[in-house]
Amino acid sequence: MKKFYIIANWKMSLNFKESIDLFNEIKQGLPEKNQAEIVICPSYIPLSEINKNNDADGKIKLGGQDVFWEETGAYTGEISCEMLKDAGCEYVIIGHSDRRKYFKETDETAHYKVKTALKSSLTPILCVGENFQERQENRKDYVIISQITKALSGIDFSGSEKIIVAYEPVWVIGSGRAIKPEEAEYMHQIIKQTLIDIFPIEIVEKCFKIIYGGSVNAEVVKDFLIRPNIWGVLVGSDSLNSKKFLDIIKEVNTIE
Ligand code: PGA
Repeated sequence: MKKFYIIANWKMSLNFKESIDLFNEIKQGLPEKNQAEIVICPSYIPLSEINKNNDADGKIKLGGQDVFWEETGAYTGEISCEMLKDAGCEYVIIGHSDRRKYFKETDETAHYKVKTALKSSLTPILCVGENFQERQENRKDYVIISQITKALSGIDFSGSEKIIVAYEPVWVIGSGRAIKPEEAEYMHQIIKQTLIDIFPIEIVEKCFKIIYGGSVNAEVVKDFLIRPNIWGVLVGSDSLNSKKFLDIIKEVNTIE
């Protein structure tokens, strides 16, 4: 049976109390057994407190929404991998389209961050995705191949690492309308093929999981996850409501 990933990205949407409350609601409503690894990425400030409350027998993992590539030093405002780990994180989102859009992050910065995360034993969740114009101009395959190649070429593997690649068409994020699951499956095949061009196939099979993000909700999640190359979802808006998020988890539990 496939083990999926359901990853919640809370972005900068909740204050401290709202974050703790939402986490507790999700924890209390979580089914006993789940077909997915559940990862929640709150903002930095409530992370430690959430970690203290996280007694759900390891059923919920925590992740950061970003990280800096240096390990320590004079980098005002930045957060290191060690700090994320101290706060209970096992995962970290890297190169999300918000970061690329508002903070001018590039495939090159994503590359450094993925490298540092792996070195610190954090699992990177590398986000890639084309914008609307690139899709209109039929450049989406090229854009994704280029993003993956630049971010991941030259990364060394011992074989025990895990990298999650999240395919998120930028124009769909937050729109309330996901792309068609078969379109996502096609893009996931492109991503897998690109990974096979960069790394030995055994490493790709063992270390990589490709997930979809962009307006995922409980109604559509199953249609995505029944495709052979879609291993999970990255959820923004519908992770901010405990019922909607738990409904996604429960829906995934019905996949045979
Ligand atoms: P969305 O966000 O689910 O609101 O589209 C997804 C994301 O930004 O990762």
